[in-house]
Amino acid sequence: MSLRTLDLRSDTVTLPTPGMREAMAQAELGDDVYGEDPTVRSLEERIAEVLGKERAMFFPSGTMANQACLRLLTRAGDVVLGSKDCHIQRFEAGAAAGLSGLHIERLGDEGRFDAAQLRAALPPDDPHFAPASVVAIENTHNAAGGRVFPKDMLDAIVVLARERGLSLHLDGARLFNAAVASGRPPAELAAPFDTVSVCLSKGLGAPVGSVVATNASRMGALLRIRKMLGGGMRQAGMLAAAGLYALEHHVERLAKDHTNASRLAEGLAELGCEVTAPETNIVMFRVPDLEGFLTGAANCGVRVGRFDATRLRAVTHLDISAEDIGEALTRMKGLFRT
Ligand SMILES: Cc1ncc(COP(=O)(O)O)c(C=O)c1O
Repeated sequence: MSLRTLDLRSDTVTLPTPGMREAMAQAELGDDVYGEDPTVRSLEERIAEVLGKERAMFFPSGTMANQACLRLLTRAGDVVLGSKDCHIQRFEAGAAAGLSGLHIERLGDEGRFDAAQLRAALPPDDPHFAPASVVAIENTHNAAGGRVFPKDMLDAIVVLARERGLSLHLDGARLFNAAVASGRPPAELAAPFDTVSVCLSKGLGAPVGSVVATNASRMGALLRIRKMLGGGMRQAGMLAAAGLYALEHHVERLAKDHTNASRLAEGLAELGCEVTAPETNIVMFRVPDLEGFLTGAANCGVRVGRFDATRLRAVTHLDISAEDIGEALTRMKGLFRT
């Protein structure tokens, strides 16, 4: 009997559940480029409400959502200040520079930076320097292993950013993980930001989609940018229905993913891996022979991802149960026998 593959490469590998597929099949549809898809409207209204913003707009991907926000808040030649290894800089194919002429300066470490680091990086008011226009925060932070951005650090950054007239963007691809882990409502985490992007296709388990929430006054410009980037979709309500279903059924359960990630981290540490304790659903770890481990794990039906030259990443999600974590650890034990 062949073993079921336990795929821990990412929380994007989930397949829609039967209930989600049913909701997609039943969705009321229209042409969303004409603003006539009622299910997309419902999703946008629901996200605006959950994030405490006036309006929201559906996007095909987190990358497009982030990049549309950056373009909205900047002019070509501006500097965006973000965290070390932030997704908008490292994993979006150079879009900020290529599409909007932006330079992203990366601050701090482990997904976070503080107001002093931000202050030190701000350019003087001198025509030799590119102007800084946006501070971007990633919460949770992917490359830092799903870390939640600390409230006190953010509060001080927000004060400084506002003093200096900077806009604030939140890459909240995994904002619901941050909300569940910190016990703070998503609207509270989103409150300081001018633009917030959230993904439906990661921990929430929808097949496609991200949503940007912002003020009503920005919607016209954002809509034009989405059109320019090719993000206008037609009967997108089938996808929006999956997002609405996910918001109703898959948010509270993220706590299970976090518990599973902790258990996985403990187990990997017991096997001898060097593991960063996870705050949410992402486990970063090191092994002496990275390539050998990846191949060996795949051969016993466990898939983990290579994150960079020295780190592997395992991510818990909707399609991985507590039992699966035990099973994955049992299978991986064999890799450490001498
Ligand atoms: C923090 C973060 N932001 C944005 C994205 C981009 O999302 P997408 O893959 O939908 O473009 C990702 C994807 O993994 C992410 O981890």
